Amino acid sequence: MEHAKHIIRAVLLLVVAVVVFVLVRHFLYPKSFGLHGYYRFDSVAEYASAAPVHGDRGSCAACHEEKAATLTRGKHASVSCEVCHAPLSTHVQEEARVAPMPVDRSMQLCATCHQKLVARPKGFPQVVLPDHAVEKGAQITNGVCQECHNAHNPSE
Ligand code: HEC
Ligand code: HEC
Ligand code: HEC
Ligand code: HEC
Repeated sequence: MEHAKHIIRAVLLLVVAVVVFVLVRHFLYPKSFGLHGYYRFDSVAEYASAAPVHGDRGSCAACHEEKAATLTRGKHASVSCEVCHAPLSTHVQEEARVAPMPVDRSMQLCATCHQKLVARPKGFPQVVLPDHAVEKGAQITNGVCQECHNAHNPSE
């Protein structure tokens, strides 16, 4: 029996550790955790009530009908407004303009999709920049592409 003491101590320690673990876990777990699955149920409502960051063309069209119409009838119809500008929420909140929407006139913007690369599909319109603009007789300035192409409808 002399040696049983060691075992009892070890077991007691283990029991204390388990009790502490269960208590700490109980107090640290968010209330709604596990209500409907292995996640915090309150987070659903929190995400649902967050203000949207992005908007589609329709949300821009509410105030920029003409620009949206120009885009839709041209070759850039598949390009989202936010790709060339910025997320809706930086510009509009609660249906009012809160800050200017960035306008990028650099040729780098166009180069993202049109710089000639072997990896692009063959049929996709590609040009070597800035050579293409120089060949057409333009001076390279910020906004050079807009001199000949309407960003919202490049074939116009
Ligand atoms: C392919 C890129 C591209 C897309 C897509 C695009 N824009 Fe633009 N946007 C530009 C560029 C570049 C300019 C500047 C044009 C210029 O200076 O002639 C501009 C200018 C504007 C302006 C005028 C800003 C000013 O100061 O004159 C508005 C408003 C605008 N865009 C709204 C939109 C809306 C709304 C959409 C979607 C329906 C959209 N844009 C889609 C590139 C784009
Ligand atoms: C609630 C209305 C509203 C919505 C929605 C809206 N805008 Fe605007 N936007 C304005 C107003 C007002 C102006 C300033 C006057 C003008 O240029 O027509 C403006 C101006 C702009 C400009 C010129 C730069 C500036 O801020 O002065 C661009 C570019 C632009 N908007 C792009 C967009 C894009 C892209 C979207 C969608 C992601 C969008 N806007 C959604 C109201 C709106
Ligand atoms: C997010 C990608 C993207 C960006 C950025 C972009 N474009 Fe385009 N562009 C396209 C797509 C997609 C097409 C249609 C390709 C097709 O028809 O196969 C296109 C077509 C074109 C065409 C050919 C039009 C025709 O009639 O065949 C021109 C010119 C053009 N873009 C110029 C520009 C210019 C200038 C800019 C910068 C202001 C720009 N693009 C920015 C995606 C982009
Ligand atoms: C001085 C006028 C001019 C300027 C500036 C210019 N382009 Fe063009 N671009 C044209 C013409 C004209 C075409 C028609 C096709 C051709 O002749 O190559 C064209 C065609 C294109 C095409 C379609 C190529 C194809 O294979 O269908 C793209 C993409 C393009 N340009 C992008 C740009 C970009 C990006 C810039 C800015 C660096 C730019 N262009 C500046 C006149 C110009």
